[in-house]
Amino acid sequence: MPYTRPEVQNEIMEIIFQENREILSRIIAEKIITLVQHKPNCVLGLATGSSPLLVYQDLIQAYEKGRVSFRKTRTFNLDEYLGCSTEKDTYRYFMDHELFDHIDIDKANTHFPDPACPKEYDRQIALSPIDFQLLGIGADGHIGFNEPGTSFDSLTHIAVLTEKTRRDNSRFFASFAQVPEKAVTMGLYTIMQAQEIALIALGASKKTAISQMFQEENIACPASILKKHRNAVIYIDWEK
Ligand code: GLP
Repeated sequence: MPYTRPEVQNEIMEIIFQENREILSRIIAEKIITLVQHKPNCVLGLATGSSPLLVYQDLIQAYEKGRVSFRKTRTFNLDEYLGCSTEKDTYRYFMDHELFDHIDIDKANTHFPDPACPKEYDRQIALSPIDFQLLGIGADGHIGFNEPGTSFDSLTHIAVLTEKTRRDNSRFFASFAQVPEKAVTMGLYTIMQAQEIALIALGASKKTAISQMFQEENIACPASILKKHRNAVIYIDWEK
């Protein structure tokens, strides 16, 4: 499937500041719910980490209330660790636990990149383009596992995690030593193909990355590529 770069414009992204992360998450969840209601077979790009958790809780509630069905929805997660010592540490487990097991999605339609053939993920995504991509951001400005220095033209690939990222993410593991050193991640180019992007940044630890993002686009801050996207919204809550 041939690749076409979306027509990118140098527009300033929309930024939504909100001191209440419940409200912030609700805004994003309602966008997703509206999309799925109008286009049940839509394609969602999903993220892990603590930032999207309230969004997932809102999606589960909407499903339980009968407002939305994910039966025809397809998902592509951003990334997956390599060499986890227990299944519970994988992002597949995280997503099953935090979302998929609680809604009516067909797990056959939930995808994660395969480290054995990363580029295959780009082929799959090109066949089912992502309508809405949810993103968190690392304290060093990474999105997915695209660490500083990653090419803006990158496709899905194996990434070596920085010590900082491993330390930041170690709270999800029994010990720092158990945090994998590598992951497979959608590339920055892959992420930019999504029709719409919502980046959620919660907490004071994300301030530096966000302010770097608003400086010039530079691979030193991978998230700064989003400034080139025509439909990216940044949701920010600096509290805690
Ligand atoms: C990991 C994930 C990223 C996520 C980041 C921030 O590194 N690969 O996709 O954005 O964590 O996580 P948190 O929201 O927990 O701060």
